[in-house]
Formats: sequence, C-alpha cells, structure tokens
Amino acid sequence: MKTAILLGFLFRTNYYCVTSFSSSLVTYESRSRHATATTKASVLLPPLAMSTPPVDTTAEKSFIDSELRGAAMKLHTRFQAPKEGQAKEKKIEIEPYVPTHEDYTAFLVDSQYVYQAFEDIVNNVEELSVFRNSPLDRVTRLESDIDFMVKEFQIQKPVVGKAGGDYAEVIRQLGNNGSIAEFICHYYNFYFAHTAGGRMIGKKMSSLLLNKKTLEFYNWDGDLNKIKESVKADIEAIVAEWSKEEKKRCTDETAAAFKGGGGLNSYLSGGGQSPH
Ligand code: HEM
Repeated sequence: MKTAILLGFLFRTNYYCVTSFSSSLVTYESRSRHATATTKASVLLPPLAMSTPPVDTTAEKSFIDSELRGAAMKLHTRFQAPKEGQAKEKKIEIEPYVPTHEDYTAFLVDSQYVYQAFEDIVNNVEELSVFRNSPLDRVTRLESDIDFMVKEFQIQKPVVGKAGGDYAEVIRQLGNNGSIAEFICHYYNFYFAHTAGGRMIGKKMSSLLLNKKTLEFYNWDGDLNKIKESVKADIEAIVAEWSKEEKKRCTDETAAAFKGGGGLNSYLSGGGQSPH
C-alpha cells in the first residue's frame, strides 16, 4: 500500500504532467540513497540527493549553462532540483496508481515515435547534421526494449498514442519549417531530460515491473557525462552563430518542450491517452 501511495504521488500530474510526478519520484529515489522514510508525508520533503553540484561562478558560462538549462530548471519544482527549481508544487489529494507493463510499454512506444521524429529531422536538415548518429539516439535501443516487453509479458504492441503522436508532429513541423532555434530547444530538453529525470523513471519502473532489469533505453555507449559534454559543445557551436533574437526564440520554447516531453509521462500516472 505504501508503494501504491508513493506511486500515486509519483505519477500524478501538476505541471504538464510532470511536477508532482517528478517530485515524488525524486523523493523516492532519494530514499534509497539516504534511507529516508517511505511514508506519504516523506514525499513532501526536499530530496537531498538531487541538490545541484556547486557552480563555478568564475568560469564564463555557455548559452546552455546560463540560459537554456536555467529556463528548464525554472520549470522543475524545488523537490526535483532544490537549488534551482522554481515551479510551484501543488499538494493535491490523489488516487494511488501503479503503472502496468502495458502502460510502460505504451510510454516506450510513444517515446520511440518522438525520438524517431527527432532523428528523421536531424538526418534531413543540413544545419543539424552534427547530431546525426549521436550516441544519445534512442530509437534502436527502444526497438529492442519494446520487443522485449511484448514478448516477455505477452502484450500486444500498442499503437502510438495521442501524447507521442502530437509531440512528434510538433518536432517534425519545427524541423520542416526551418525553425532551428526552437528545434534545438526541444532536442536539448528531450534528450537531456532523459539522462536526468528519465533515468529516475527507468529505475523506478525497473524495480516495480522488471525485477530490476535495466532496459537498453537507459544504456549509453561510453561515459554519459562525456557524451553530454560533447553534444553540449555541438549545440554551443551552432548557438555561437545566432543573433540575440534566435537565442531568445530557443529559450522561449522551453515550456513547449516540457509540455511535449512531460505529456508522455501520463501513461505512467493512469492517464494513458487514447490513440489518435
Ligand atoms: C519526470 C519528471 C522529471 C524529473 C524527476 C526531473 C528531474 C530532474 C533532475 C533531478 C535534474 C538534474 C538537476 C541537477 O542538475 O541537479 C533534471 C535536469 C533536467 N531536466 Fe528534468 N525532470 C523531469 C522532467 C523533465 C522534463 C519533462 C523536461 C523537459 C522536457 C526536463 C528537462 C531537464 C533538463 C534539460 C535538465 C538539465 C539536464 C542536465 O543538465 O544534464 N525534465 N531533471
């Protein structure tokens, strides 16, 4: 029952289906590292494990570190990122919900559909060629994970739902319209969110549904921090050519990135969206 209550907090929505979900998730994760209580009340405590590392204020900050990441962190709650989160946490009464194998598979299917949209645009748009065949790419890994879920749990492979379908369409339109600055905001948020909050979701699902098995979705070839640094440098090289106005268009797109990326989490909170 404790688990059910926690999961209710974990997956209920607040900010674009993300914040209560994430704050509880963060707290749940911090429990294992800090052996804090697992009661309902504990989900309201700030998670020590998620404190941000000290920032070197002497170094000149890049666009990502000074603006784009900052815009994203503002949309996290204090529970998710105690030093940087600013979004309001709604303390709402919620129905406990424990996601099923089907829910998680639907989440993976929609995630893959969105990653496919990113990869297709990157492969077709010359200005984005530096992101081709990136170690952050997830489509192939998700393919094997979806196959695994379908076979292991005898699930019928779900069709892509509304959350994934709609968000993939946003990505394709931005790419095809030449809205590179906006596209890069989505790219950064979607791929980097998966390396932070996304991995926490993975750990939770792994212990809840997979007997601690780690899916390929959560594996990267090589040192993830180095991979992220290298992709950040690629983004910075593009941003270096931008006007102030293009930079603003990029950071201003952050809320849309949260809406699209956060929307996929609804599958794990009992709010699975019907196919379109
Ligand atoms: C399930 C919900 C989520 C949780 C639990 C979560 C949690 C976190 C945490 C703990 C961090 C690390 C903060 C730090 O550096 O100390 C982070 C970073 C970040 N999150 Fe989230 N987040 C969630 C959803 C999202 C969403 C929906 C987006 C946007 C689509 C997003 C975008 C980012 C970005 C861009 C970073 C910075 C990554 C980096 O610096 O490497 N997050 N998140």
